[in-house]
Amino acid sequence: MNSLLIYCRAGYESDTANEMNSLSVSLSIFGYPEFTPEQGFILFHFYGQGDADRMGQRLAVSETIFARQIVVVTAYLQELDKGNRLGPVLNALAEADSEEWKNTLLFVEHADTERGKALAKFCRKFTVPLRQGLRKQGRLTYKERDDGRALHVFFTDYDHCYVGHSYPDCRSPFALGICRLKFPPKAPSRSTLKLEEAILTMLDDDDRASIFREGARAVDLGACPGGWTYQLVARDMTVEAIDNGTIDESLMATGLVDHYAEDGFTYKPKFGRVDLLVCDMIERPDRVAVLMSEWLEKGWADHAIFNLKLPMKKRYDTVTAAIGEITARLGKKAKDYQLNVRHLYHNRDEVTVTVIKG
Ligand SMILES: C[S@@+](CC[C@H](N)C(=O)[O-])C[C@H]1O[C@@H](n2cnc3c(N)ncnc32)[C@H](O)[C@@H]1O
Repeated sequence: MNSLLIYCRAGYESDTANEMNSLSVSLSIFGYPEFTPEQGFILFHFYGQGDADRMGQRLAVSETIFARQIVVVTAYLQELDKGNRLGPVLNALAEADSEEWKNTLLFVEHADTERGKALAKFCRKFTVPLRQGLRKQGRLTYKERDDGRALHVFFTDYDHCYVGHSYPDCRSPFALGICRLKFPPKAPSRSTLKLEEAILTMLDDDDRASIFREGARAVDLGACPGGWTYQLVARDMTVEAIDNGTIDESLMATGLVDHYAEDGFTYKPKFGRVDLLVCDMIERPDRVAVLMSEWLEKGWADHAIFNLKLPMKKRYDTVTAAIGEITARLGKKAKDYQLNVRHLYHNRDEVTVTVIKG
């Protein structure tokens, strides 16, 4: 096969396909998508020999919006004999092996859907003999490392699977491409996990160290009940929390939070500027995009992390229009920022945007 297998949230297949179409055009590596709605993944087939592998080495999951994992598919195995699934899988992996790369990781996975989850136990069990077999053949290192190729087997049923590989720097390090987080028991809302996932997966160590430090200031627009403010306070920031709602009392007791019952669209930072602006207001994405650009343009905030709520249709177009608006408004200053957009695991019908200066 000459295709990519791209995991996404169930229901987001057409958005992932639209994004892949546009990436394939911008990289001049042409192909077309194939998917069934609600299956939690798409395939993207390429025309040129070797193009899937080329794309798999150029396209990082972290630079896409809707992809959770990207695998270069080398074979699709159908109607596997339940008495001997291992043999054909080992053969398919052997046929696609490369002298150039060491295989240092193995993922046996399924879609993040109800149907896919029914295969979880089987996938876990299958990993054991497959890992042993691959190591015996010298096709998988004994020590797991993230700097080599990862081998992937993706079951769509007990007797059907895609076989392939992914490259370091391009793949997600997480099983199923999902960053699972434990809910912090003292956080006032589950929304807290959205900001935590963004901080952990969309920023690098340098960003985290320079933005989240004792004494740094943040504004949180649409803050109540305080899940995002909780993440900022946990990182020693002082927060202006803006919302007409009620904020969690234990957050106020930290002495690090000032709550203002004001409109996020007219609020100005109390001391002229802050280090970080965050915003989780349920509002039209175009309005939020304009507001975020204004704060950055005016120098009211150095960095911004915010969510764009998505409509039911044309979600990819909505996101690209909002990002286009931000870039256009920042004008020449746009090159001073690193802008990323991700549909995070803890997001629902929304994406998270990070705009980081420097
Ligand atoms: C999804 S909730 C925010 C949850 C919050 N991030 C958390 O982690 O707990 C959206 C909030 O935005 C607030 N909001 C909506 N429009 C607003 C506006 N124009 N100004 C201020 N807050 C607004 C709502 O009152 C609501 O509390």
